[in-house]
Amino acid sequence: MSGVGRGGVLLHLDSSADRRGGSVTRRLTGEFARIWRERHGGAGYRYRDLAEAPVPLVGSGYVGLGTRVERQGVVPPAKVAALVEGADEEREWALTLPLVEEVRAVGAAAGTLLVGVPMYNFGVPAALKAWIDRVSFPGVFTDPDSGRALLGDARVVVVAACGGGYGAGAPLAACDFQVPYLRAYFARLGVAAEQLHVVRAELTRAREIPGLAAFRDAADASLAAAREAVTGLAGPAGS
Ligand SMILES: Cc1cc2nc3c(=O)[nH]c(=O)nc-3n(C[C@H](O)[C@H](O)[C@H](O)COP(=O)(O)O)c2cc1C
Repeated sequence: MSGVGRGGVLLHLDSSADRRGGSVTRRLTGEFARIWRERHGGAGYRYRDLAEAPVPLVGSGYVGLGTRVERQGVVPPAKVAALVEGADEEREWALTLPLVEEVRAVGAAAGTLLVGVPMYNFGVPAALKAWIDRVSFPGVFTDPDSGRALLGDARVVVVAACGGGYGAGAPLAACDFQVPYLRAYFARLGVAAEQLHVVRAELTRAREIPGLAAFRDAADASLAAAREAVTGLAGPAGS
């Protein structure tokens, strides 16, 4: 992505297991990416389908290396290899570094991280959690000299969907561990509150689940609002 100007980087992640064409999050993130590429071209665009090409779960070598690194304070990724011990750690670091570099490139360019996230069992899909666990290697998103968050100028756009409704007053509102989790995670990573945008289409199963039939209009309205929000965030007014 070298040579790409500020704001001209988009890292697009999808994590829905549904690759048959019916995924709400895939459609919405796809629309965002299409509009974004019309404005910025393709040079700074990266795509990862975390369901099609899952990130391996972190293993013992990741924990061992991460712990050794943490004892040193903040170690820049370029110096981590010198701390690697044994083939297991070497393998884990080889799996981790390219993913970390992709996210750091977003921070360096004040670019956008776009994340498509269905709700699975009240939380995020395991495919996305595996990516989160791996990229969140100790210290890699902190400037070793200033202590500044390297994602402090980045924009994160979370495009979420859930089959039911979790708004204020909904019976399951307290079971929403999808959006609150992602807000907490990206805030902890140093993404500024005003740079974290969450769009969610709710009640996406209302047309399939008989017990949700009464919410079909609400589902349509939620999807239309999500589509409008995504279009706005992808266009000139959103960046
Ligand atoms: C494995 C699995 C678990 C799910 N768990 C929930 C859930 O806990 N709450 C909910 O509201 N919807 C749940 N759903 C429904 C999805 O959140 C909903 O269909 C959403 O639109 C999926 O995103 P997608 O359309 O991008 O695939 C689940 C769907 C699947 C496949």
